[in-house]
Amino acid sequence: MKNIVVTGANGQLGNAFRRLSPEYPQFNFFFTDADTLDIINKEAVRSYLQANSIHLIINAAAYTAVDKAETDEVAACRINCEAVRNLSEAAAENHCKLIHISTDYVFDGTNCRPYTETDPACPVSAYGRTKLSGEAALQDNAEAVIIRTSWLYSETGNNFVRTMLRLGRERDELRVVFDQTGTPTYAGDLAKVVFAILLSAETGNFKSGIYHYSNEGVCSWYDFALKIMNLANLPCQILPVETKDYPTSAARPPYSVLNKTKIKDAYHLTIPHWEESLKAMMSRLS
Ligand SMILES: NC(=O)c1ccc[n+]([C@@H]2O[C@H](COP(=O)([O-])OP(=O)(O)OC[C@H]3O[C@@H](n4cnc5c(N)ncnc54)[C@H](OP(=O)(O)O)[C@@H]3O)[C@@H](O)[C@H]2O)c1
Repeated sequence: MKNIVVTGANGQLGNAFRRLSPEYPQFNFFFTDADTLDIINKEAVRSYLQANSIHLIINAAAYTAVDKAETDEVAACRINCEAVRNLSEAAAENHCKLIHISTDYVFDGTNCRPYTETDPACPVSAYGRTKLSGEAALQDNAEAVIIRTSWLYSETGNNFVRTMLRLGRERDELRVVFDQTGTPTYAGDLAKVVFAILLSAETGNFKSGIYHYSNEGVCSWYDFALKIMNLANLPCQILPVETKDYPTSAARPPYSVLNKTKIKDAYHLTIPHWEESLKAMMSRLS
């Protein structure tokens, strides 16, 4: 039985792996957090892989506070780049495969068609820069898959859906930007894709490289918020505003829709539309 370690297992995506792992009894999962495996500590990573005979690492750990990273880039870089290099080197020494998660925020958002894996990355935020450096730390690793995803949400943790539901209960109206376009991604759907890659690794079909994954469809944060209020039957009015009228510390790409053709072809995936996944997640919440 293959031993798989999941880092950052208390995060949104990490929790999705925990929840779905019983459906994959052919793997032996080790769920770790910063207390049990601090990925910044290279020696700790090395000895963890050896002590537990790990075959594959799923790196769900990250520094994800996009605005805070603007004034805390060194700390963000430590987790999003230096720790990824640690994982990559320790994985290579121990003949481990590695699946790493990256972001649509590596792009500047000037495209007007969905981004492919070969489009040039040019982040507009400190968070995006540190995540792109993390990808670069893996470029010489022939046994690494990088999945860039976007607008991640789940039943747990800090995310747009949970924030909208909380604010929607507290307020009569909310202003949400309509000039940033992307695609929401339900963490459970992304976790299932990672499991599909694990299964294909079992049959010798682990295909290293960068892949894009989100749910299907396209929307603005305004559309996303409106759908959340509708599904939750909340009377809160959603008002469309421009990014310039909703200033944040970090700039965001105005357009970060991901083209998913490569991952769909490689792993024969059918991806749910974002509205379908949101509806299913919200019915589980209630
Ligand atoms: N959230 C999004 O909208 C979004 C969008 C695109 C891509 N992504 C990417 O998707 C991945 C998963 O994101 P997420 O939303 O699930 O993140 P998350 O909820 O913020 O979880 C990240 C986890 O990493 C842990 N962590 C931080 N430093 C660590 C360390 N040194 N060692 C071990 N664990 C550490 C955190 O623990 P503590 O909480 O204890 O610090 C946290 O549990 C990340 O790579 C992220 O960049 C996210």
